[in-house]
Amino acid sequence: MKNRREFMKSSLVVSAGLVAAGIAPASAAENTKASIFYYSAKNPRRWEGKAGSHAPVVTVEGNTVTIETKHGMSPEHYIVKHSLLTSTGEVLGESVFFPTDKKAVSTYTLTGEHKELFALSFCNLHDLWVSEFSITE
Ligand SMILES: [Fe+2]
Repeated sequence: MKNRREFMKSSLVVSAGLVAAGIAPASAAENTKASIFYYSAKNPRRWEGKAGSHAPVVTVEGNTVTIETKHGMSPEHYIVKHSLLTSTGEVLGESVFFPTDKKAVSTYTLTGEHKELFALSFCNLHDLWVSEFSITE
């Protein structure tokens, strides 16, 4: 009886270790706060292979931030919206697109000091994607 108890005890410990390892993402080091909730180029999860046409591409020139999603625009499948957020969740700007728009490109002017920003792009079929970027002086 003692041997059975010891076997059960050690089996539970091993099982608990495997479960804990199973719920940790394989690329945990690449996760940011935002990519836990949204899809990103580093963490596309169920949309593997879609990052090139869904992860927002950001360019910064002076205090102007441009967000582009290199995605087609058609009535059935298009980019619905871009948002620019701070690391605390403050919305600095939003742009809504229509299927008739030729491209999903938006531009924002920064008025304050910002270091860590998040560009969001929402596809009507492939969910919400984020690109995190930093402003360097
Ligand atoms: Fe899409």
